[in-house]
Order: sequence, then structure tokens, then C-alpha cells
Amino acid sequence: MSHSETFYNYREFITGVDAKVPLKNGKLVPAINFDNAATTPPFSYVVERLNSFLPYYSSIHRGTGFKSKLSSDAYEMSRDIICNFVHCDPKKNTVIYVNNTTEAINKLSYIFKNLYKDSIILSTRMEHHSNDLPWRSKFKVDYVEVDELGRLNLSDLKYKLKNHHGRVKLICVTGASNVTGYKNPIYKIARIAHSYGAEILVDGAQLVPHYPVYMKQKSEEESIDYLAFSGHKMYAPFGIGVLIGPKNIFKSADPEYSGGGTIQMVTDDDVIWDDPPGKNEPGTPNVLGVTALVSSIKMLNKLSLNSIDKREKDIYNYALNKILQLPDITLYCDTDPNCDKVAIIPFNIKGVHHETTARLLSDLSGISVRSGCFCAHPYVQRLLKLSPEEINYFKTHFNSFRPGIVRLSFGLYNTYNEIDILIDTLKKIIKNNCN
Ligand code: ALA
Repeated sequence: MSHSETFYNYREFITGVDAKVPLKNGKLVPAINFDNAATTPPFSYVVERLNSFLPYYSSIHRGTGFKSKLSSDAYEMSRDIICNFVHCDPKKNTVIYVNNTTEAINKLSYIFKNLYKDSIILSTRMEHHSNDLPWRSKFKVDYVEVDELGRLNLSDLKYKLKNHHGRVKLICVTGASNVTGYKNPIYKIARIAHSYGAEILVDGAQLVPHYPVYMKQKSEEESIDYLAFSGHKMYAPFGIGVLIGPKNIFKSADPEYSGGGTIQMVTDDDVIWDDPPGKNEPGTPNVLGVTALVSSIKMLNKLSLNSIDKREKDIYNYALNKILQLPDITLYCDTDPNCDKVAIIPFNIKGVHHETTARLLSDLSGISVRSGCFCAHPYVQRLLKLSPEEINYFKTHFNSFRPGIVRLSFGLYNTYNEIDILIDTLKKIIKNNCN
């Protein structure tokens, strides 16, 4: 171990950190996961809580038996825990359970289509496709540009808002980029949005697991209107996600899906909807996912998001310093240690295709990363500085070696030792490339 670990042994909280995987040569080694932006492993506490709950698992809102009531109460009471975790206003907001962030944003896009179909949506060129495509298919969408390092251009945000003369109804922005890790100034963006009569949706998938979010701010202008996030990126698998927003909005629009559990009464000709969130959660709810999420939140609170942020920053800076010393590396983000980021490093080895680097990391050292365009193609095209001709070429040449990036994304349980293994492996790949 080349660096002293902090006082928590975070690894003891995680299931699967000691699991071994085969290398290309057949040797078994402990798996190293630097793909936490895609999915984190579960907290062991989440697994324990699920095991304790499973004997009582029963139907939600659909039975009178003891187990059913217990399951329903646990499910309903969880909403306060979620609301507290992201500091939303329980009087104003409703917490709606979905499968993941993608579903949350799609859900909101249908509500907006219902209520504001002729308005303009302002997304950004930094977004994951999930905070772009649901809007593209229903609205006129404009995009806030990024600068040469891929950071959001706030002057362009103001320019676009001004240019659309009050027709922008919603600004859809990521809390932290899944490609570069940049954190966006969401409260400042909220203030700008509100000053032009727009609301703000924050895609919190990459932010909520790493840094405290305060939806309700002292000043109403800086408060976040809508927030979406996923359990599987915060140590809570089992297919749960969250959409939070003002109750009155969900009350005033028809839901995109309807069916069991969404109504107060149905007659031959009429439907009387339930209030949100019931109205917006069709079918039997995912109480196991909710149990996983509230257990994970309990752990995140115990460890404290501020300490987690510090821990992840230490790992990030340790890795970044070492990578900066390697030859033939291109980095696709601001490398200033003071840059406000979650712990993500996007890079390539010059002359080595991103898929090859990713494959070799796994083959040689059992390291998992993601490579490619990370469901954020327009953003990656900008980071790679692809010309319109190149983009056009790849639109029709799916089998060619498509450009992309290798992404390292760290979680609270990654170690300096794992980074050392990464660096040694990168050195081997670089050396072999030169030979
Ligand atoms: N959005 C996730 C990622 O960036 C899946 O990998």
C-alpha cells in the first residue's frame, strides 16, 4: 500500500469487493471496479436489510393482511426519508418511484407534453441521452453549449433564455456529467432559469450518490423544481429510481401510464385519478427496490456525503496525478485539482483505440471501466473535437472503429492500491504500444 487509507475501511461496507475474476491468462485476481458511474456494487447493509425484510414481503396497497400492511407502511414512509435526503419541501413536493433516472425523465416529459406542449425546452450539450431524447421527441428543444474543455457555458444559457423571449418552460441539466464528472452550479442555474420564467430539472444520477443536494434553498429562486436519480448508482440495486417535483403539477396532468393503483374510482365512462404519487405509480410498486434505497441512504448518511466526497476526491487526485505523469495520455477534462467535479477521469492512450484499452485493463489486471460515448454522443463528439464530416461518416459506418473515450469512475470503496495497479497496467499498455 503506497498511501495511508482514511479512518473508515469503506470496503467492509461493500458486497463483492473480494470477488475474484479471471485474467486472460486464467489467473484469478480480485476484481477492480472503476465503473461506478454506470453501476455501483451494493452496500452489504442493503443486502442484510433485504434479507430481513423478505420474510415479510407482501403486496403493497392491495391487501389487508399483516404483512401487506407492514409492506405498504414501509413503502409509504420511505418517501419522507428520500425527501429528507435531498432536502426537498415535503409540503410542496411529491416523491414518485420509478425504475431509474431514464424513466423518471421520460415520465416528466409526458407530464410537460400534457401541460405545456407549445413551450421550448432548454437542454445542454453535456447531457446524457436520457435528459435529451425524451424532450426531443415531444418539444422544440434548444441546447446550451459547452466550452473547449466541455464545461457548461453559462453565458450561452442566459443568451438562449433571452433569445427565446420567455418561451422556455424548463431547463434540463445534469447535476454532474457522467463523462467528465463536472458538477454544474445547479442553484445558480435555478436562479437564472427562474428569472426568465423557466423551471429547472436536475438529472441527479451522477450527483446524488456523491454530494449533498439541497432541493429547497433559502431563496425560492435558487430551489430545484425537479430532481431525478437512480438507486443502482448509489449502492442500492433492485431497479428503483426517483422523480421529485411539485405535487400540483402531477395533480393537474394525466399520467403517461395508467392502470391498477392509479385511481380513486372508475365507472363505465369516468376515471377519477388518485392524488400523486399514487396516480403516477401504475402497477404493483417495487417495495424491494425502495427497501434497498432507504437502506443505502441510511448508510450514506452514516458515512456522510461530505466525507464520501472528500474520500472520492482524494482517490481522484491520487489517480489524476499519476496519470498526468504517464506519456501518451490525452485527458478530456479540466485537470485543475480545484475544478468542481465528481471522481471521473476520461482519457485515451494515443494510438490505442478506447475499446482496446478497456479490454486490456480487464484482460491484464481485472479492471472494469466503461469505454465509448457513454450515452452522451453529442458531448463526446465535442470533447473529441470531431468534425461534422467525421460525425457524418460514423453515422453510416457502424462497423468501423468508432471514436470514443475510456472512463474511470470511482466509488467510496476504491483504494490507492487499486490505482497503483491501474497505473502499472497503463504503463504496460503504453510500452507495448510503442514497441
Ligand atoms: N449512465 C450510465 C453511465 O454513464 C449508465 O455509464
